[in-house]
Amino acid sequence: MDLKNSIDKNNLPKHVAIIMDGNGRWAKKQGKLRIFGHNGGVKSVRDTVEGAAEIGIKYLTMYAFSTENWNRPKLEVDALMALLVSSLKDELTTLNKNNIKLNSIGDTSKLPLRVQKNLASVIDQTKNNSRMTLTLALNYGSKSEILTAVKSIASKAKNNELNIDDITESLFSENLYTSNMPDVDLLIRTSGETRISNFLLWQIAYAELIFIEKLWPDFRKDDLFEAILNYQNKERRFGKTSEQLNP
Ligand code: FPP
Repeated sequence: MDLKNSIDKNNLPKHVAIIMDGNGRWAKKQGKLRIFGHNGGVKSVRDTVEGAAEIGIKYLTMYAFSTENWNRPKLEVDALMALLVSSLKDELTTLNKNNIKLNSIGDTSKLPLRVQKNLASVIDQTKNNSRMTLTLALNYGSKSEILTAVKSIASKAKNNELNIDDITESLFSENLYTSNMPDVDLLIRTSGETRISNFLLWQIAYAELIFIEKLWPDFRKDDLFEAILNYQNKERRFGKTSEQLNP
């Protein structure tokens, strides 16, 4: 079956988010170091980004490094950071060729300077691209994102710049890293784990969650297409009844 052509282009998720999991296990299965799995994962990132752009996804957000990932052995953290720098350098031309804009969410000020520099440079050099926004979550944690928003709103209220009644869902959304993006429609996690791991807690309120057994380095664009077909077969009711949606 041609998965790509079976997708209904009029019912695409606007925003797809991915928890890329299983790199370490993939490497271990082959008797290799964990970083070998992260290297393999880069190929999956490239293929998935390409597939998402091909079918017309507007926002793709990938969990590349969480606030908790600093607790991994220093060797692995350093290798991941080096991989990020080399991938950013390698992919700039492809991003521009495909009209893809790079964006990041998370506290990037805590990343090594060379990562910050490369990231800022690629973001700047792709800022006018409009086909798709690729967001990398780097040193991202959802609880911390929510707390930062709460603090900023509370301080405005304290200084009388804001009335309590002005605090709406949309105002809250505007105070998150994702302020200029729609909420997530489809969240995919690989490697058979069924956790959210502090990723986009507010933004996934109505998302479909799809868990895939494959380890991230084995994930390819066809797996993305299959997940989107699954998504399209679900009825998103947003609290309404099926009868209300299909009178
Ligand atoms: C999860 O697998 C993966 C990560 C924490 C890092 C993801 C990074 C990449 C795919 C490579 C670089 C990314 C970009 C955007 C160029 P895991 O290590 O938790 O695997 P395990 O659960 O099997 O141990």
